[in-house]
Amino acid sequence: MRYSYKGVPTCKTPFDLALYQMLLWQQKPRTLIEIGSKWGGSALWFADVLRSFGVDSEIHSVDITPPSISVPGVTFHRGDGRDLATTLPANLMESLPRPIMVVEDADHHCETVLAVLRFFDHWLATGEYIVVEDGIVDDLYDAQYVAKLMGGPRRAIELFLRDRGQHYEIDTSLCDYFGTNVTWNVNDVKYAAMPHHIDFFDWCWVAGLTSVAGLLPITIGQMTAGGALVALLLYVAVRRCRYFGNTAPLVMVLLLFPLVTTQTVSKPWLWALPFLFTFVGGVFADALETRQRKLFLGLSGAILLTQAMLCLALLPEIAR
Ligand SMILES: C[S@@+](CC[C@H](N)C(=O)[O-])C[C@H]1O[C@@H](n2cnc3c(N)ncnc32)[C@H](O)[C@@H]1O
Repeated sequence: MRYSYKGVPTCKTPFDLALYQMLLWQQKPRTLIEIGSKWGGSALWFADVLRSFGVDSEIHSVDITPPSISVPGVTFHRGDGRDLATTLPANLMESLPRPIMVVEDADHHCETVLAVLRFFDHWLATGEYIVVEDGIVDDLYDAQYVAKLMGGPRRAIELFLRDRGQHYEIDTSLCDYFGTNVTWNVNDVKYAAMPHHIDFFDWCWVAGLTSVAGLLPITIGQMTAGGALVALLLYVAVRRCRYFGNTAPLVMVLLLFPLVTTQTVSKPWLWALPFLFTFVGGVFADALETRQRKLFLGLSGAILLTQAMLCLALLPEIAR
């Protein structure tokens, strides 16, 4: 590839540069993570385009052999796409400004692409994008080469979506923008749904199932551990979530369990608390993952503050 940007070799086709600038404008990512830096040309281009769009963003570009150039706003990391937890540890990932956009452009080996997709599956939120580059290798190279890549990016996407397809969407509006798959990033993946915490409908059935199992025995006066059992089953069966999610019913049921085992007289509404907390926690987690999180934080902070001030103002009256 002889293409260069500001004199730095850059492995992008004109189609993909055109599509990327549209996606960057639409997403305005505050963090862009690239796996596969090569000479650093693409990171430099991403940084310049985002800056020209007025987006205050940081770029993290990971390569097993990072380039030696230095680009303002870009951190080049030495790291392996197959072991991203070492290069991008949880404390770094948690601190990154949202939205995040990921560009996977490493060795195009199926296992590397799959490892990258699975790593970010844990971190990406609804509406964020992961672009898997060079799905076109199947068409560009012979079968032997593609076999060496174990099927390459397209196979990785296929395997990944087999597990997690219900949470993702391939953004054909981009892949097919200039004609069906007229891009090197054939069948890019767009993140489309709630990945880690259960979505609203799941919250409903978690709450419903647990309350049926927990409340029924109470109303018939048996005080069994039905609720705890269902919460435990949900905890084991449902994938761990980033926030409270499926852990909350279990924790709450365990906290309330002594009320049953010690025969303490309790009130059935207490059993509704786990579901209430789960629901509220889920709504908060979801709201905090949207682009309006600052507005949401500001509004909920203002409500809390107002409530606190009203309570304080009432103190003299109560004291009388
Ligand atoms: C296609 S080039 C990246 C091109 C660059 N993004 C651009 O558009 O100019 C692939 C890069 O991935 C790096 N690479 C290969 N295997 C990798 C791995 N397992 N983890 C991280 N980087 C890897 C290579 O060193 C190489 O620099």
